Amino acid sequence: MRQATTKQMLIRMKTFITTALAASITALAAQAPSNSSTPARMTAHPIPRLVQQNGRYALMVDGAPYLMLGAQSGNSSDWPTTLPKVWPAIEYLHANTLEIPIYWEQFEPKPGQFDYSQVDLLLTQARERQVHLVLLWFGTWKNGSQHYMPEWMKLDSKRYFHVINKEGEYVDSPSPFCTASLERDKKAFTALMNHLKDVDSERTVLMVQVENETGTWGGTIRDYSPEANKLFHGPAPPEVVKAMGKKWVPPGASWEAVFGPEAEVYFHAWAIAKYVGQVAAAGRAAYPLPMYVNAALHDPLTPEVPVSYESGGPTDNVIPIWKAAAPAIEIEAPDIYLRGTKQYLRTLEVYHRPDNALFVPETMGSPLSARFFFSALGLQAIGYSPFGLDYTRNRPAMPGEPNSKNAFLEPTAQDYRLIAPMMRQIAKLNFEGKLQATAELDDGSAQILHFGEWDAVVTYGRHRRPMENTNERREPLGRALVAQLGGNKFLVTGMDCTVDFRPAGTAEQQKAGGIVFGTGQEPSAKIDGKWIHRQFLRVEEGQYVNGGFQFERILNGDQTDYGLPFTFAPEVLHVSLATY
Ligand code: DGJ
Repeated sequence: MRQATTKQMLIRMKTFITTALAASITALAAQAPSNSSTPARMTAHPIPRLVQQNGRYALMVDGAPYLMLGAQSGNSSDWPTTLPKVWPAIEYLHANTLEIPIYWEQFEPKPGQFDYSQVDLLLTQARERQVHLVLLWFGTWKNGSQHYMPEWMKLDSKRYFHVINKEGEYVDSPSPFCTASLERDKKAFTALMNHLKDVDSERTVLMVQVENETGTWGGTIRDYSPEANKLFHGPAPPEVVKAMGKKWVPPGASWEAVFGPEAEVYFHAWAIAKYVGQVAAAGRAAYPLPMYVNAALHDPLTPEVPVSYESGGPTDNVIPIWKAAAPAIEIEAPDIYLRGTKQYLRTLEVYHRPDNALFVPETMGSPLSARFFFSALGLQAIGYSPFGLDYTRNRPAMPGEPNSKNAFLEPTAQDYRLIAPMMRQIAKLNFEGKLQATAELDDGSAQILHFGEWDAVVTYGRHRRPMENTNERREPLGRALVAQLGGNKFLVTGMDCTVDFRPAGTAEQQKAGGIVFGTGQEPSAKIDGKWIHRQFLRVEEGQYVNGGFQFERILNGDQTDYGLPFTFAPEVLHVSLATY
């Protein structure tokens, strides 16, 4: 055969590349929604979305469940001068997602003129570090106030007016009935979302928080402006009546007639939700990223009347109102700063609903609360994000607070160091309902997790690995995670705890019989007069690398005779079980 000339070879190569490229573009286009003229580059990274299956949620990123190992920056950290103090903290934490504000006052310095420079800088710097972003739209509401409105709006408080209290005075909170503010917010937020659509085909931004801790503090439960009063004394909207589970009410019944003492709180929540829902809907029409709102909480164990919390935000008592009035918002999310274990766990429970994915966009990153990340995972959380974790902190350490450079990051870093290498596996196992996780209660009592044929028993404060930590215990820091990889095969990890297994039912039986778990005597149990013994077939220690478990060694002897003990080091086990 005749040798091809260099020119001919170049032509062939070009033809080959063009054909291959065309084939992959066709393949990508085939994945696009049928009614879409979306270019192929858009389908390479599909828009992140929240999906639900069998009552469990997942945030899909690049087509697979994703667990946000998040950290939120300080409020004033999103500036060119401060970002260099943010990224090193994210790296130290092993966080995969940074939550950071977009300030309306910076974004729209003059009416209708939008400044995209800071968003662009964020995107560039996040991509350089392969970190995802959740953007927090500090728009009309920030912690119940309108402090992030642009100056030109603040100077025109007649047009962009505040809530009026019972005494007829303005308070430091934007009125949800101010259509001028609403229209401005919608325009600005839409500009932001349009810009993201144009510049973020890489999907660096995963979700957007619309406003921040909406509602009203300062003793006023609702707006008492003439317009608000008129609506309040008018009929309660049927969608709210239905959302709150009222079966039948007389046609035209007022808020007070339907909801009694709760009427004012519900009314304010409805008014704010309607406003925020319109902002979100306008933004989503431009670019449909998942959107959520965050709540300054009230104590879920103590009903508060009169209301002393931030009225009107998405607190757990009004989630259905928010769902009905703001359907463009996909998640109502709790900012959890409650210190009591019971309150914390109850809050996770009440935000984990069939119609609401659990997501914790703010919480404290303290040693005692780091364990609650596991409690959240146990309720299929799609993400977790302690607040204020960057090096811009300009306050001195509080009494009793460790003062070394990374002490405030360390509790969260412990969690993320462990989970980050297997983040995708954890998210998938959780979405499939194969994972359970738990945290130590204040009394250190044992916990039992049920997996079909097997129960996992988690104990705290006993049998640490010999020599590794001999201090007797003091504070509840333990946490455990168990996932069923196959019938008798489990992924097991945790910190400051011991995990063991029992054939299903025997653990409950032993507990009822008063056995103290963790003494090493109880992996065998008599069922229907017959002894059943748990045995470890094989306990592999290793780590996840590039999505696969990399075996390092087999644990046996002292390392398994009393169950599987975990320290604070990142330790991951694959465990095979059998009975005899
Ligand atoms: C909750 C708010 O959402 C945050 O922006 C911040 O103000 C913290 N409280 C307190 O530092």
